[in-house]
Amino acid sequence: MGASTAQLLVYEAMADVVLYDVVEGMPQGKALDLSEACPLYRCSASIIGTNDLADIKGSDIVVITAGIARRPGMSRDDLLNTNANILRGVSAEVARYCPDGVVIVVTNPMDVMAQLTWQASGLPKQRVMGMGAILDAARFRTFVAWQLNVSPEAVEALTLGGHGDQMVPMPRFTTLRGVSITHLLSEEVIKGLVERTRNGGAEVVSLLKSGSAYYAPAASIFQMVKAILFDEKQVLPVACLLGGQYGVDGVFAGVPAVLGKAGVERIIELDLNQQEREDFQRSVDAVKGLLQKLGLK
Ligand code: LAC
Repeated sequence: MGASTAQLLVYEAMADVVLYDVVEGMPQGKALDLSEACPLYRCSASIIGTNDLADIKGSDIVVITAGIARRPGMSRDDLLNTNANILRGVSAEVARYCPDGVVIVVTNPMDVMAQLTWQASGLPKQRVMGMGAILDAARFRTFVAWQLNVSPEAVEALTLGGHGDQMVPMPRFTTLRGVSITHLLSEEVIKGLVERTRNGGAEVVSLLKSGSAYYAPAASIFQMVKAILFDEKQVLPVACLLGGQYGVDGVFAGVPAVLGKAGVERIIELDLNQQEREDFQRSVDAVKGLLQKLGLK
């Protein structure tokens, strides 16, 4: 996922990139391969591969994809302890080398790992966020577009809550050029699309057999990096620390937010109906349950 994100950044000639991994030679090999694509991409960025985290020093944005991925039959939550141990160490180091950076956490279970990173790093809450809801929304958009036989670009979608099995795709806020899909598709069809979205990551894992999705996740990370790097004030659903919004305090969960150079610049609170509020709360409770297992709540 990290390498795919790097490729998108280099292809768009958007930033210098440092690829870090514990495996010797692997990030160096990826960086060399990407560097050799630069003349063809018309890119003059520098791409470094390293096993020394100190090389990320001074980065404006740090994307954390470290950790193990799920295998078929596993849920994102099954990765909890292994990835928590990896991220505890990494987070503090990231804050030491990039005290002014914005951190995007992708490692699963993502909302919990974002919260852990925020706590272990000591970075301000605006500068720690998680990538999940953009990917979930992209999957929802894809499935809706296939159903309606239209370009996926014409469909806007929203998913809220944790990036787990309890995620909350929001049909009422999912539109074809402004028209809610609740006016275009039957309840039963929408239910099927919501279910497929919830299961979207696992569907890819079950086909790949080893490893999880990386093209759509990397495209999602790319959107966030771009919004921050160019201070775009994009409104994107991201996992960030809630401080009373949506009735939740002190927990990371996916909500629409304004992303700019300061990181999460503002959280946008939508007017949810009773059912949507309950679904959101259930999803946040699932995140809280995992936080408790780690002793973080
Ligand atoms: C997925 C992983 C990245 O949803 O959580 O594919």
